[in-house]
Amino acid sequence: TTELNPALLPLDWLLGTWESDEPGQGCYPTIKPFRYTETLHFSHVGQPVINFMFNAFHAESKKPLHRESGFIRMQPGNNRVAFIIAQNSGLVEIEEGELTGHQLKLQTHALARISFAKKPHVQQILRIFQLRPDGRLEQTVSMATDNQPLTQHLHITYRPSS
Ligand code: HEM
Repeated sequence: TTELNPALLPLDWLLGTWESDEPGQGCYPTIKPFRYTETLHFSHVGQPVINFMFNAFHAESKKPLHRESGFIRMQPGNNRVAFIIAQNSGLVEIEEGELTGHQLKLQTHALARISFAKKPHVQQILRIFQLRPDGRLEQTVSMATDNQPLTQHLHITYRPSS
């Protein structure tokens, strides 16, 4: 196995595969609340980069829904983290933020979308990953769109999977 690049040691707790332990909750003022399952993969090839894939499914129908993949980098010498993200909805995004202990708090730094992306358009995303003392990982996502201020869209917890 390839050794993790030392630049990423502060994020070693993310590596591997995570499976939602109970369905996550999706909500937004403009939509019907929904439940979803999600698998997260974080891996590396020795570069100062973590590769990731997030695949979400409707909890009841099991249909694939949201998918994201990308790269994570850390600024050498401090706790600044950047996510470089492509979403299946036609959004590409850079999120930046800080690692504090086992909490990673990220916000949109740059955002672009395909010319025929569905409306309303997302304008801002706030995302928090938290490794809990019981070993579970929690993700909370809030977003602002053309017509809503920053409001929660997703909350989910994951357990480590093989
Ligand atoms: C709706 C963005 C992740 C499931 C929406 C809407 C937006 C959005 C802009 C439309 C809201 C409106 O009509 O006012 C995002 C962004 C995500 C994300 C930026 C990631 C950062 C997810 C995930 C799921 C999901 C992980 C899990 C399955 C849904 C569903 C709807 C929805 C079911 C309502 C129906 C629909 O419009 O397709 N999302 N979403 N989203 N999202 Fe997400």
